[in-house]
Amino acid sequence: MDLVALFLPLTLLSCQWIVVPAAEETYWTYTGSVGQSQWSEYFPECSGSAQSPVDVETSQCKHDPTLAPLTPLGYSQHGNQPFTLYNNGHTVVIDLPDWMGLRGLPWLFTAAQMHLHWGSGDPGHGGSEHTINGQRADAELHLVHYNSELYPNISTAMTQENGLAVLGILVETGQEDNQAFDNILDYLGRARHADQKAFIPAFDVEGLLPRNLGRYYSYKGSLTTPPCCQTVLWALFQERVHISQAQLLKLQTSLYSSGAEEPQRMLLQDNLRSTQPLNQRVTAIVVGVMCGCVGLAVIIRFIIKTIGSTSSWDVLPSIRPTPVQRANTSDKRTEQKQDVPLSCTSGAGGTKEEPSSSLQAEP
Ligand SMILES: *[C@@H]1O[C@H](CO)[C@@H](O)[C@H](O)[C@H]1NC(C)=O
Repeated sequence: MDLVALFLPLTLLSCQWIVVPAAEETYWTYTGSVGQSQWSEYFPECSGSAQSPVDVETSQCKHDPTLAPLTPLGYSQHGNQPFTLYNNGHTVVIDLPDWMGLRGLPWLFTAAQMHLHWGSGDPGHGGSEHTINGQRADAELHLVHYNSELYPNISTAMTQENGLAVLGILVETGQEDNQAFDNILDYLGRARHADQKAFIPAFDVEGLLPRNLGRYYSYKGSLTTPPCCQTVLWALFQERVHISQAQLLKLQTSLYSSGAEEPQRMLLQDNLRSTQPLNQRVTAIVVGVMCGCVGLAVIIRFIIKTIGSTSSWDVLPSIRPTPVQRANTSDKRTEQKQDVPLSCTSGAGGTKEEPSSSLQAEP
């Protein structure tokens, strides 16, 4: 098989979307007349051949010894500044400080934001976007990072090859409360309606992650919301995290997709996209495991980078190292982090929102 031929078409992609009149340009939903089957009318890349999420068929995964363990950088150093929690009508987004990052992929990635996907609580209907052997988990947490070695900010990175890295964490319900998730769930009521924003106390983001970061499913895919840019290196952890049934219920019933002014309240639920065909992709697996799609591109990229010259890949440690302090990691982190939600639009690149009147300071 000609690996390079497989890889090249991907490198030529750049994410585009049709500019439509301002009033409508950002509007999309998961179901209905502007639901997922219509997304590609406004966002052509949504019908691309490397879309996310996917079903991970574990029997098709291959172990990729070249994949390194993923190392979160600075996740526990949350600092004194509050985080911003934002209801964008599609999910709840928490902006992450730009000293947080990710090592273990062929480039250094800088954290931008995290958000969740969940269901409606109907029995037998999970709320995760990725599925494992056809099984949906109850919810899914996404930590979005951009390639700060190659690109100046997330709005540029999200449209470019290898621009983003997203960590996917499957969430299941168990017996016990997960204290780390209370750092988010306890404050959902402050941004109940779409477009509301609130400050919340900063917290240890690493507490949201599973313990074993060494095993993950890796593949090349896309944003799971419009404009569906096919610029994402996905790493879906094999280990799941658990929250209590009460915590899941809070996630499913606290937020509205409708604005505060809208007469009819719409609960924000089932904000998940259907799984997309793998097509020619292979999921590469992990240090420990690599599933078909993603790994292939990563390996090829590795080869290209190695040939090309300066690769940080070959100096990666084989075991998970201690998180490095900001000062030691990268001077590229001084880039201003952009306030761009995952669901970007053609106008999103230049807008930095000011705190609105719904913003509530932490007492
Ligand atoms: C991101 O970087 C590009 C390229 O340097 C620049 O043109 C653009 O204005 C930046 N976007 C924001 C939101 O700062």
